[in-house]
Amino acid sequence: MVARRPDKTAGASWSIEDIPYDGLEHERVRDDRQLFYIVASASFIESASDIYTDNLVAFFHDDAEIVTWLKQHWEIEELQHGAALKRYVQTAWPDFDWEAAYRTFLAEYLPFCVVDRLAGTRALEMAARCVVETGTAAFYRMLSELTEEPVLRGLAARISADEVRHYKHFYRGFRRYRALEQPSRMAVLRTLWSRSAEIESEDALSAYKAIFLGLNPGAAFQRSDYEAYRAASLTLAKQHMPHEMAVKMLLKPLELHAMVGRAVVPAATSASRFFLQRYSAHV
Ligand SMILES: [Fe+2]
Ligand SMILES: [Fe+2]
Repeated sequence: MVARRPDKTAGASWSIEDIPYDGLEHERVRDDRQLFYIVASASFIESASDIYTDNLVAFFHDDAEIVTWLKQHWEIEELQHGAALKRYVQTAWPDFDWEAAYRTFLAEYLPFCVVDRLAGTRALEMAARCVVETGTAAFYRMLSELTEEPVLRGLAARISADEVRHYKHFYRGFRRYRALEQPSRMAVLRTLWSRSAEIESEDALSAYKAIFLGLNPGAAFQRSDYEAYRAASLTLAKQHMPHEMAVKMLLKPLELHAMVGRAVVPAATSASRFFLQRYSAHV
């Protein structure tokens, strides 16, 4: 029997020590500016997960089961996503000052992280969480299939599997609160729609801006730079996002037949919405 690693993070199914950073194939990623922005942005947003855990814990404060899971599993895993991606960025693009850029990101991002941005009821917030976890699961699946760099491929696949488990947990919570609150199907659909439609998200823009300023000290940030990055990312997502996976995950909370769902949900499940939504309203 293999002994448990002493450095393994409690509550997580894998450890950052399991990621073989030494095997990173630098020539595959060194000059890929788009990938750099994508991975660095994800590392920032995941690293800020503790802020959202506090918001959610406050929202579900008297639900011991949810609070315990959020603190002992969800937060630990999301922060590990941030730490593992951070280490990837620092290994693949060592000239980038991650810490300084992250401080810039947090300064801009923190004011947006307030409890009243959560959904109106617990059932609806659980439904919204299903959207967020669907988005992150699909995003990391796409990243793992898209990149030819083996360390990133393996890391993204591990994170995607975590996000699917998070989805399942929030989905169970949704069913429990739906029985209590009995929200209308339309209210659930509206929640799914609004959470997934937040494309012009503060976190994607804040992350991009902080990375840009880190790379170009003293330069004036132009919104058009972000727009160009966003357009390129949307093209990527349109071609590679796992739509079927996302559709199936979102049909569950609505309890729609797949045929009906395909007519009702397509906008909410479009690749572009997932790619740049506030997937860290989560994370
Ligand atoms: Fe995550
Ligand atoms: Fe997650």
